[in-house]
Amino acid sequence: MSKPGAHIVILTGAGISAESGLGTFRDVGGLWSRYDWRDLATPEGFARDPGFVLDFYNWRRERVRAAKPNPAHLALARLQRDWEGEVTLVTQNVDDLHEQAGSAPVIHMHGSHLTARCAACGHRWPAPREMAPEDRCPACRAEAARPDVVWFGETPHHLEAIGAALAAADLFVAIGTSGTVYPAAGFAGAARAAGARTLMLNLEPAENADIFDEARHGPASRIVPDWVAALCPGEAP
Ligand code: APR
Repeated sequence: MSKPGAHIVILTGAGISAESGLGTFRDVGGLWSRYDWRDLATPEGFARDPGFVLDFYNWRRERVRAAKPNPAHLALARLQRDWEGEVTLVTQNVDDLHEQAGSAPVIHMHGSHLTARCAACGHRWPAPREMAPEDRCPACRAEAARPDVVWFGETPHHLEAIGAALAAADLFVAIGTSGTVYPAAGFAGAARAAGARTLMLNLEPAENADIFDEARHGPASRIVPDWVAALCPGEAP
């Protein structure tokens, strides 16, 4: 049990949004079992066929727009509201379900489906329903619009702030992530090295399970609210 005032750092992955209808990547039937990530989630794949990549993200964006937060997202928003200490919420997800649930701030280390970015000047703008290769950047007018997500081989965002949070964490919690993609997969080790306890809340044991002090397995929509209720007793407002 964490003492009131403790600093809790939370990392979420695709598994927290699975029960909101958004597919994960590496589960049976996951996105990377149906599509080749080299074609859809690398700068090289985008350069080879920008139309194919933009069509994929147009499809994913529509799914994200139709999705609603589930009890796991709502429980984390409650924790950020009610916990008598600092909560740093980091997500690998590019959906906005944490924000829709009321979480703030949310550190998106892999970017967002809901914004577009100019590959030429770096300008960001709200992603239109359908992005196409001939879309021009509203700022520099270059035909260089791309999804504002971090692809394999690119550097995730906010790593300095995340590193500072991990160094100050009393408890690190990984939720709905397979622990296979770095640097996120190394966060538990970094937090532990700085003296934090580590907890995994996941449907099944993850690849980096051995680095966690405790693991609870089950659907996030059940095990995350149970965990938060134990930390913040009393009726959820
Ligand atoms: N409740 C809890 N956990 C779940 C649920 C659920 N309902 N459904 C699936 N999971 C777990 C799976 O057991 C798995 O461990 O969520 C994890 C999902 O793992 P991945 O599909 O690998 O997703 P993630 O860890 O977020 O991937 C990391 O890889 O492709 C890149 O950039 C992409 O951010 C992504 C990164």
